[in-house]
Amino acid sequence: MPPAVPGPPAPAVPAAVLCGLGGWVPPQVVTNDDLARRLDTDDTWIRTRTGIRRRHVIGPGQATSDLAVRAGRRALASCGPSAVDAVVVATTTPDRTCPATAPLVAARLGLAGAAAFDVAAVCTGFVYGLAAAAGLIASQVARGVLLIGADAYSTIVDPLDRAHAIIFGDGAGAVVLRAGHPDEPGAVGPFDLGSDGTHEDMIMVAAGGSRHRATPGRTAPADLYFAMRGKEVYRHAVTRMAASARTVLAQAGCKAGDIDHFAPHQANLRILHSVADDLGLPRERCLTHVESVGNTGAASIPLALADAAARRTLTPGDRLLLTAFGGGLTWGSGLLTWPTLPAPVPPHEQGEESTP
Ligand code: COA
Repeated sequence: MPPAVPGPPAPAVPAAVLCGLGGWVPPQVVTNDDLARRLDTDDTWIRTRTGIRRRHVIGPGQATSDLAVRAGRRALASCGPSAVDAVVVATTTPDRTCPATAPLVAARLGLAGAAAFDVAAVCTGFVYGLAAAAGLIASQVARGVLLIGADAYSTIVDPLDRAHAIIFGDGAGAVVLRAGHPDEPGAVGPFDLGSDGTHEDMIMVAAGGSRHRATPGRTAPADLYFAMRGKEVYRHAVTRMAASARTVLAQAGCKAGDIDHFAPHQANLRILHSVADDLGLPRERCLTHVESVGNTGAASIPLALADAAARRTLTPGDRLLLTAFGGGLTWGSGLLTWPTLPAPVPPHEQGEESTP
């Protein structure tokens, strides 16, 4: 019998390791000037307050699952569907109140039979989903997980509401995670997750759930749309994201200076820069994608990763800090060491995936 090849000892608890990445935004672009033609706003106001120049929106008849399937297909391109036995969709705009969107997405990707469920943590959904996926792999419930952040905010934002219509865009980003070793490139974690439901009304769609059913003729139209107290959200976002980032850095025993790229939820450019400043991270280390897609909710972090990877900004071995904040309130952070991955298709590039 040949001698055993020496290698790292098998870990008692497998880590989730990133092995696939993809993002997709729909072809229809809405610029700030397009918005200014129908709303009392202008490009300068939007750019100076948010950093956003344009966003992408789905067309009539399209839904969140259509975005998710395209991003999921791109993420699976490098590893194939057989690598996956669980599908998680993080979204605030599920196709329907019931059932969840993930089983439909799984079936459309040829993954019927896989475990499939949605994560509802608003803009923190991707980080919550990443921690949940890592848990599925660590507990050996799943060997491989497809996690998709997908949101179509254009379906819940009042198109005549200038305060919110300028901020959001539609899109989806996806990652594939496999079981591996905590020390290998691609390993995710540790994580910090938190919430404060005493502020549930700071970001909400008031009607449509069990508390306030959407009743034809009786529900005020405004209650069917997304509402947010922008100034308060801004303050909470900066404070909570910075605190969560510090917690996860402390858990990992590292400092902000050890981080090569900060990948925050792309809420708005001023928030991202304020959090980076608070952490003492140079702004150049902050991945920014919000200028060209707006705030895409749970899709924003994987879309920013796909955009940066497509531009070859990320080098294997780089340490990334992921931090998000959203309605709930919810927040969370996680660390990721960048693996060797094929460069994904840029999210705005339409390929054959534009056919559902
Ligand atoms: N165009 C032009 N003027 C606008 C406008 C628009 N789209 N939206 C609001 N205004 C006006 C307001 O009516 C107000 O006018 P007034 O002073 O005459 O009353 C003025 O601009 C200031 O409004 P305000 O809401 O105080 O602006 P702001 O500086 O707080 O910026 C946000 C608004 C939404 C950009 C900002 O609060 C923000 O970025 N919040 C965080 C939002 C976010 O990222 N959420 C996602 C978190 S996951």
